[in-house]
Amino acid sequence: GFEPRVFSGVQPTGNLHLGNYLGAISRFVPLQDEMPSIYCVVDLHAVTVWQEPAELTRATREVTAAYLAAGIDPKKAIIFNQSQVKEHAELAWIFNCIARMGWLNRMTQFKEKAGKNRENASVGLFAYPNLMAADILAYRATHVPVGDDQKQHLELTRDIAQKFNNDFVERIRELGLGIPNPEPTPESPDELYFPITEPMIAGPATRIMSLRDGTKKMSKSDPSDLSRINLTDDAEAISRKVRKAKTDPEALPSEVMGLEGRPEADNLVGIYAALSGRTKAEVLAEYGGQQFSVFKPALSDLAVERLAPIADNMRRLIADPGHIDAVLRDGAERAAAIAAPVLHDVRRIMGF
Ligand code: ADP
Ligand code: NA
Repeated sequence: GFEPRVFSGVQPTGNLHLGNYLGAISRFVPLQDEMPSIYCVVDLHAVTVWQEPAELTRATREVTAAYLAAGIDPKKAIIFNQSQVKEHAELAWIFNCIARMGWLNRMTQFKEKAGKNRENASVGLFAYPNLMAADILAYRATHVPVGDDQKQHLELTRDIAQKFNNDFVERIRELGLGIPNPEPTPESPDELYFPITEPMIAGPATRIMSLRDGTKKMSKSDPSDLSRINLTDDAEAISRKVRKAKTDPEALPSEVMGLEGRPEADNLVGIYAALSGRTKAEVLAEYGGQQFSVFKPALSDLAVERLAPIADNMRRLIADPGHIDAVLRDGAERAAAIAAPVLHDVRRIMGF
């Protein structure tokens, strides 16, 4: 089978928040000890919508600082930015020619991001999931830890891998480039070039919601600053935002089932669970029956305890952009050393 390998990425679009941390970055840290791991700052994704150039540079360093501050060790994992490894763009073009219009037409994130003015959305925003497939498959990555919002894009990655494997099955075999398929089916040949990647979407924090609206996901682009806890917030800002978080008037239930129909309570309990490494059931065993006036201060103390050291580290790292850029340069070299041979194979497979 395929060598296990992790790939994931975060866009340098500013306003890194608790959802990015709990749904993605914090989960990258233990994985670096389990398998070879590659963590990317996906700047080519960011520019699918307008980015001020100086702000893009700043935000690229900020995401890198967040990776390092959260505990990703550049001696263990590869940390780099996407635009520095040209294989991403090259494989994305090939996948533009593998993926079907109909597949992309079904992507809900494009519909949300493009909004009503679809005619004016960039072509890149539409093709974004093909670039994401290229990010993952340029390393033949087998595991991708992400938040719930990326589920549909990962399914597309699997579809692209499968179509490539099927379309070129004879060539892959002739050139001796196939890897035995761990799960052959009528749709999936017994030798593969690209793995069928496993999404890792699990735990209590796969979808952290806005603190102001329990029906919307916490997001970088929400105009309300109170809707999210940013990774760079200080203790005062964190406790103010938790205090002002929207809730209902009921006490916390004593069982997880009791959170149904109470999205704000569910969200805050999920955040507490993720920050403390416990399950929601364990959190409710402790706080069930308590009012938010008791739970919120406990939550904000916990958030401060977990996030303040990261914010301090980020500030220290950002003060030395030369060091951050050196980490990214070194990471890009190591990433290219893996991706370039894959593109070499892909060119031979396709007849270039
Ligand atoms: P955003 O969606 O905030 O613009 P990205 O697209 O860069 O951020 O996503 C980076 C990672 O953070 C992805 O794995 C994504 O699934 C995860 N993520 C983003 N928002 C949330 C959220 N509200 N809850 C959990 N995970 C999230
Ligand atoms: Na996202």
